[in-house]
Amino acid sequence: MSEGRGQWGSRLSFILAAAGSAVGLGNLWKFPYITGMNGGGAFVLIYLVCILLIGLPIMIGEVLLGRMSQSSVVGTFPKLRGEPTAWVSVGWLGVATGIVILSYYSVVAGWSLHYVWLAITGELLKSDPQTLFASTYADPAINLRYHSLFMAITAVIVLGGIKGGVERAARVLMPVLLLMMAALLAYATTLDGFGRAVDFVFGFHLESLTGDAVLEALGHSFFTLSLGMGAMLTYGSYLSRRDDVIAVSLATTALDTIVALMACLVLFPITFSAGMEAANGPGLVFINMPLAFASLPGGQIWSLAFFVLLFFAALSSAISLLEVAAAYLIDERGWSRRNAVLVTAGLVFVIGIPSALSGSTNGTFGAEAHWIGERNWFDTFDYLASNWMLPLGGLGIAGFTAWRLGGRAREASFKAGSKLGSLPGVYFAWLQLLRYAVPVAIVVVMLHALGVL
Ligand code: TRP
Repeated sequence: MSEGRGQWGSRLSFILAAAGSAVGLGNLWKFPYITGMNGGGAFVLIYLVCILLIGLPIMIGEVLLGRMSQSSVVGTFPKLRGEPTAWVSVGWLGVATGIVILSYYSVVAGWSLHYVWLAITGELLKSDPQTLFASTYADPAINLRYHSLFMAITAVIVLGGIKGGVERAARVLMPVLLLMMAALLAYATTLDGFGRAVDFVFGFHLESLTGDAVLEALGHSFFTLSLGMGAMLTYGSYLSRRDDVIAVSLATTALDTIVALMACLVLFPITFSAGMEAANGPGLVFINMPLAFASLPGGQIWSLAFFVLLFFAALSSAISLLEVAAAYLIDERGWSRRNAVLVTAGLVFVIGIPSALSGSTNGTFGAEAHWIGERNWFDTFDYLASNWMLPLGGLGIAGFTAWRLGGRAREASFKAGSKLGSLPGVYFAWLQLLRYAVPVAIVVVMLHALGVL
């Protein structure tokens, strides 16, 4: 092991930190809203298939690569090859992707901070949720203020090193988050719209499925599991050789998927009961949750708790996004942690400014601007990162793990410390998925999105 690299306190710490990275705005904000936009059922099914057959094998691959190399995403490839290699570009892509994602992620996370404040002042439950969100989204001053505040908080935590802070925070926050979701779910089952919501999420409505939706489901399975840019690889590099990679990957994937489905089963009953549309777009969680809280006894406390949790879920994910770029500068370029974090966080802040203007009337970056297709700057960044950069990075990571890693070392590492991984056929099945199913699926979906297939 290289000198000075930390390790997780226990297997549970890794699972909670990895789940902290995975569970975020992707689960609570994005998944429900893209499910709504893509008509529900069939989209959810394709998403689940993507998680199981593509996400999980890549998750195991990433954690395995990190544990084997014990270094950052850029250092991993040359280190495991034992020589300089063009595969290092997968690491570069990862660093760039982290910066792009965090730049707009921080803007949405900023909304959650703003809503925490509105919940404290009580304004949240006094205002019409639709108007409140529309005015939040459109206001450059609010967006810039909370974007910078959120980036500053993220930077401070990464500055102090993630181990003590993230590990301890995740141990409290993840269980609390699950409990909160369970309580909200219990409330949602009492609503009139619950039956319709279950049918919307789990009923099979093939007619509403499009090719773009398949690309979106694939892209989102990367996004929600924090795959394709080395975040899980970096976290995996803090595991010891005795840790069970298969079990921790399974647990992380399961937790993430459960929270995403719970989020849908909380949001859609509320949506339908209030007579609102499922295809409500990015405002879904910010409009519909306040709506529910307004009719709950103790609504102010509920709303405060909910947006604090949304903020913490976003924060534990943002930390992992920033850490990938910072770790690269520290590990490979010999920068001090302080300089690395200040420069990367500053860069992310600047690149995020256009996204902070995305709801405004600004002609270049605002709501009505068109970059790729009908998408404004914010949507273009999200589209490029989750639908293209992450799958491309995932392709690289899968390709390297399955074709370029020494077979014997890979098999020994896969089985080390893992009962599940040592069962007959498990290693073989994983390798075949990574060798054939994963690359073929990614390439086919991409060609389709390009209009070639
Ligand atoms: N998975 C997080 C979410 O669902 C976002 C995230 C954190 C992420 N780290 C990542 C996405 C790395 C892609 C890659 O909100």
